[in-house]
Amino acid sequence: MKRNYNLIAILITSVLVMSSCEGPMGPIGEEGEKGDQGEPGTTLACADCHNSNSQMTAFSAQWEESTHATGGNAAYANREGCVQCHTSQGFLEYVAEGSVADISVPQNPMQINCFTCHNIHETFSSDDWALTKPGAETLEVRYAGADVVWNKGTSNQCVFCHQSRNVSPAPSVNGADFEIANNRMGPHHGPNANLILGKTPFELPGAQVPANNPHSTASGCVTCHMSAPYGYQAGGHNMAMKYDSHGTETRLLTGCTSCHDIGSSPYTAFNNKISEFQSEIKEKLEDLEAQLVAAGIYNTTTELANKGTFKANAVLAYLNYNTIKEDRSNGIHNPEYTRVLLDNSIAAMTAIGYPAPEE
Ligand code: HEC
Ligand code: HEC
Ligand code: HEC
Ligand code: HEC
Ligand code: HEC
Ligand code: HEC
Repeated sequence: MKRNYNLIAILITSVLVMSSCEGPMGPIGEEGEKGDQGEPGTTLACADCHNSNSQMTAFSAQWEESTHATGGNAAYANREGCVQCHTSQGFLEYVAEGSVADISVPQNPMQINCFTCHNIHETFSSDDWALTKPGAETLEVRYAGADVVWNKGTSNQCVFCHQSRNVSPAPSVNGADFEIANNRMGPHHGPNANLILGKTPFELPGAQVPANNPHSTASGCVTCHMSAPYGYQAGGHNMAMKYDSHGTETRLLTGCTSCHDIGSSPYTAFNNKISEFQSEIKEKLEDLEAQLVAAGIYNTTTELANKGTFKANAVLAYLNYNTIKEDRSNGIHNPEYTRVLLDNSIAAMTAIGYPAPEE
């Protein structure tokens, strides 16, 4: 979808002319009535944003190719319990009402767009770039009996949507056998915030989870996902971490340079470090998956849990598996924590009688 910015510019110019008190000079005639004085504090500064500076054009183009714009699930998940994260209208209604109790299902669902995250066209000044959800976010899922708060700059905008959903009822460590009654049991697709903070509720005994995560940065998600973009394909307002470079899938590394010495293009040593780490995580995840299949909990065809009654720790191991899989960063969001969750889950399955497969 390409927008005609010339047309917009003309429209803006005419609005400016019509609404400002000083129109273009004409021949001197009778003095007309004085125009209404604008309300104090409000300006009609369309050109603050619609101007020849490339920002709006570039950001819009990045966004247009993003999963936020193209993912398609605004239509699929346009229903109660889903609209608040999957449609622009649902999210803004949640922000206005402060609750998800009574959100209407819009007739013309919109994907996540500029108006979802910014207060566009409210005061018609550059103040409207302000974010719609700027404050700290108390996550839905508690940890060790306490609230978990995300407060990381502009990425506060992201985490209402990109957090675990509550799993209730859930088993407790070494607890009674647990019945999986719903095969979609799990934290849903975006448990990113909980994992980055290292506060997911399904930890099993074993190695100690680390207290800190080097990737839990002060600006959170935007450090990496909104770092200097690659064209319209990644970073910036596209927010993806990979792009296509002449047919080769390539990682966006612009967000890593503030901490890692990534060397120079093609960044071989740093890319190898990432690949080695992710292979380690993927192998552990595959081992755990094989154990869960052997125990009859996980079905690789449906990619869902099987209904039935299982050992509490096996169900917790499944929830760890599901969290790490749905996070989709292959461990990058919290490297050491992800390792420990997987190691302890593999050990728990072994203890129950489902040893990890031999290499
Ligand atoms: C805070 C920045 C900002 C200001 C100030 C602003 N706009 Fe916009 N405007 C936007 C954004 C962002 C969009 C959506 C662009 C997109 O979707 O790619 C937009 C879209 C539009 C569109 C296209 C239709 C639409 O709603 O998507 C028109 C027309 C428009 N603006 C006119 C104006 C006029 C006239 C003014 C001044 C009275 C104004 N804008 C002030 C940011 C701004
Ligand atoms: C209103 C809820 C909402 C907000 C706010 C939001 N997201 Fe998303 N995000 C989603 C949804 C829903 C999808 C999947 C879209 C689809 O499939 O239609 C998604 C997709 C993504 C993806 C792409 C995943 C892929 O598979 O390509 C990334 C990366 C992402 N979001 C990062 C962010 C970041 C960073 C922020 C904050 C700057 C943010 N999101 C804010 C709901 C949100
Ligand atoms: C708390 C916010 C939230 C709620 C509520 C929510 N989703 Fe999502 N959903 C997301 C996010 C964020 C993503 C994108 C995750 C990613 O791409 O990694 C997503 C992704 C998806 C996907 C794409 C998965 C894929 O593998 O491509 C589907 C389908 C989906 N959601 C359906 C639903 C349905 C149906 C509901 C209601 C029953 C729902 N969602 C409720 C946040 C939410
Ligand atoms: C998913 C949420 C999200 C969406 C959608 C989104 N933005 Fe943003 N935008 C952000 C965040 C977060 C920042 C701050 C980034 C940072 O701190 O580096 C930002 C920053 C900006 C800025 C810089 C603001 C300033 O104060 O200087 C502009 C301009 C902007 N966005 C324009 C747009 C336009 C145009 C669109 C639609 C095409 C859009 N944004 C869509 C989240 C979003
Ligand atoms: C330290 C950098 C970093 C931070 C901080 C970060 N991410 Fe990521 N994220 C990544 C990388 C790298 C990947 C891709 C891993 C891969 O594909 O192998 C990724 C993957 C994802 C994905 C899966 C889809 C995709 O684009 O591959 C989503 C969704 C996502 N991140 C959302 C978030 C959200 C939301 C936050 C904040 C709550 C966040 N991330 C914070 C680096 C980061
Ligand atoms: C705020 C600083 C910071 C940022 C930004 C950052 N990292 Fe890191 N990262 C660290 C530190 C510190 C470590 C631990 C020491 C080490 O292994 O280098 C680390 C470790 C790693 C590891 C090794 C994990 C392990 O345990 O084996 C990988 C892989 C990695 N980072 C990838 C990335 C990628 C990819 C990005 C950008 C998308 C990124 N990092 C951004 C600070 C950062």
